[in-house]
Amino acid sequence: MTLKLAPFLKPTIFPGIRHTSQVDYYEIAAIDRVCFANPWAVDDLTRILKGQYTLSIVAEDRGLIQGYAIYELLPIRVNLLRLAVSPDHRGHGVGTRLIERVKAKLSIGGRLRLKIHVRESNLDAQLFLRSQGFRANKIEHGHFRDTKEDAYVMTYSIDRGDIQ
Ligand SMILES: CC(C)(COP(=O)(O)OP(=O)(O)OC[C@H]1O[C@@H](n2cnc3c(N)ncnc32)[C@H](O)[C@@H]1OP(=O)(O)O)[C@@H](O)C(=O)NCCC(=O)NCCS
Repeated sequence: MTLKLAPFLKPTIFPGIRHTSQVDYYEIAAIDRVCFANPWAVDDLTRILKGQYTLSIVAEDRGLIQGYAIYELLPIRVNLLRLAVSPDHRGHGVGTRLIERVKAKLSIGGRLRLKIHVRESNLDAQLFLRSQGFRANKIEHGHFRDTKEDAYVMTYSIDRGDIQ
C-alpha cells in the first residue's frame, strides 16, 4: 500500500533553486575560487551579469548557496557560461537540479540547444554533462586563453536535426 501524504506533510526538497541578486556574488565567487583555475571575482561577476542576455541561478539550502549556474539566453540557444557545485555538496543531485532549470529555458521561444565549452582536462564535468544528455560535437583548439587548452563544445539539443 502506498501512503499518500497531505501536501503540508510532504518533506521540502532542498536545495531550492532561485534567481540570484547582487548580495549572492560573494558566496558565488567563493565557490568559483575553489572550483576553477580561472576564478571569477565579485567584480567579474558584476560585469558579466550586467550583460543584456545573462542570467544566473543558485541552489540554496537554508541560506547556504551550494551551487550556481550562469547562462546566456540567446534567441536560438542558451550558452551555459558557468556551472559549479561546492565540493562539500557534490554527488547529491545539485548539479542536476541546476541544469534541469536551465534546460527548461529551451522550451521557450525557438531555443533548441544548450551549449557549453568544457576544458579537455575536465573529465568530471564531461561525465556529468554526458549523464545530463549532452554530447561533445566539436573541439575548439586553444579556446581557453589562460592555458591555451582545447575546449570540447558539448551540446544538449531538443531538435531532431544535426548538431552544428
Ligand atoms: C560537474 C559538477 C557541476 C557536478 O555537480 P554534482 O552536484 O556533483 O552532480 P550530480 O550529483 O547532479 O551528478 C549527476 C550525475 O553526473 C555524473 N557525475 C557527476 N560528477 C561526476 C564525476 N566526478 N565523475 C563521474 N560522473 C559524475 C554521475 O552520473 C551523476 O549521477 P550519480 O550520482 O547517480 O552517479 C561538479 O562536479 C562541479 O561543480 N565541478 C567543478 C566545476 C566544473 O568543472 N564545472 C564545469 C561545468 S559542467
